[in-house]
Amino acid sequence: MDKRILLIVGGGVAAYKALELTRLLRKAGVAVRPILTAAGAQFVTPLSLSALAEDKVYQDLFSLTDEAEMGHIELSRSADLVVVAPATADLMAKAAGGLAGDLASTTLLATDKPVLMAPAMNVRMWDHPATQRNLATLKADGVTFVGPDEGAMACGEYGPGRLAEPPAIFEAIMGLLATGGPLAGRRALVTAGPTAEPIDPVRMITNRSSGKQGYAIAAALAQLGAEVTLVSGPTALPAPAGVNRVGVETAREMLAASQAALPADIAVCVAAVADWRPETSAAGKVKKGEAGPPVIQLVENPDILATLSNGAGRPKLVVGFAAETDRLEDHAKAKLARKGCDWIVANDVSVNGTMGGDDNAVAIVTAGGIERWERMPKGEVARRLAARIAQEF
Ligand code: CTP
Repeated sequence: MDKRILLIVGGGVAAYKALELTRLLRKAGVAVRPILTAAGAQFVTPLSLSALAEDKVYQDLFSLTDEAEMGHIELSRSADLVVVAPATADLMAKAAGGLAGDLASTTLLATDKPVLMAPAMNVRMWDHPATQRNLATLKADGVTFVGPDEGAMACGEYGPGRLAEPPAIFEAIMGLLATGGPLAGRRALVTAGPTAEPIDPVRMITNRSSGKQGYAIAAALAQLGAEVTLVSGPTALPAPAGVNRVGVETAREMLAASQAALPADIAVCVAAVADWRPETSAAGKVKKGEAGPPVIQLVENPDILATLSNGAGRPKLVVGFAAETDRLEDHAKAKLARKGCDWIVANDVSVNGTMGGDDNAVAIVTAGGIERWERMPKGEVARRLAARIAQEF
C-alpha cells in the first residue's frame, strides 16, 4: 500500500500505544511520519517512535533543522491522512479553537487532509462540557473519531476516556485510507446487535447478541470504500470509524431505519432480531399484584431481511445470516428461498461449539452451492466477506 500518514502523538499514559499502532501500520506497508508534542515526549521517547516509524520525528515548530528539512505547511500536506493518537483534551481544544502555537496544532490548522482523532483522557475531562463542545465542533469540521473506549483508567477511575486499542485505530486508518477502494461509490446497509422489545419501561424481551460480527462487517465494508449505514440495536460497542451508525431499540424501529437507509447497493442483515414482541407495552412499571404473574401476549415482528429482499428498491446484493446446528446446507438453502435473499452466511454452531466468542466458522450458501470457510476470528470473517461482496460489483 502506497499510503502515508502523519501521526501526532499527544501526551498521556496511553501514548505508548502509539508505538504499537506505528508497528501495525508499518507492517501493512503504510508510511508513518511522526510528530511528537512536548507532552507526548514525556511518555514516549523520540528515539523509539523514530525507530518504529523508520522516519524522523518532528517535534518543534521553531527548529531550524526541522523547518529547513520540511516546513510545517509542507509537513501538514505530506500525508494522505493526519492521525492524532492519543488526542488529549488539550489537543482537541486547540484544534477546535483553531490555535496554532506549536507544531501539532499548527499542522492541524494548516492541513487540507482528512483528520482522524483517537481521544484519551480522564473520564471527567472527557465528560466535561468543554470537551464535549470541542468534540461536537471537531465533528462538524469533518474530523473522524475512533473511541474513546470505556474501562478502568490509569488514574483509578472508570468510564469513557481510554484510548481505543491499536488494532481498532489501525482499522479506522485503513478504512479512511481506502476511500477509493473497490466499493467506492457503493452504499451498504448493515443491521447488527439484538433488538429490545419493551414489556414496560423497565422490562424487555431481547436476544443474546454482542453485535461484534455485524460491527466488524460494517467496518470491513467501509474499509473497502463503501458508504456504510450501520443500523444497530443496543450493544456495548463503539461505532466503527467512518461508519454512520443509527441506534435503534425495537425490530420495528430497525426496519424503519433500514428502509430509511435505502437506496443501497448492498444489505447485510446480521442483527439477532427478536422474533416476537409483547402485543402491548405498559406505559408504567407493571407491579407485582395479587393476580399473580402477568400473561404476556406476543405478536410476530416484521422480518427485516425478507422485507428488504422483496421490497421496492431492493439492494442488488442482499445477505442474511443464520445460525444452524444441523443440516446446514438444507436449512440455509430453505432460508435463502424463504427470505428471498442472495446469500446466507450460515454460522455452523455445532462446529463453533459455543456462541458469543471471537471466532466464527461460517459457510456461504448461495443458490449455486456452498462454500465452507475454516474457523477464523470474526474480524477476518468480516474482511473476507467484504472482499467477496466487492467481487460482485
Ligand atoms: N432476520 C430479520 N428480521 C427478523 C428475523 C430475522 O432481518 N425478524 C434476519 C437476521 O438478521 C438474519 C436472518 O434473518 O440475517 C436470520 O434468520 P433466522 O432468525 O435464522 O431465521 P428465522 O426466520 O427466524 O428462522 P428459524 O426458524 O431458523 O429461527
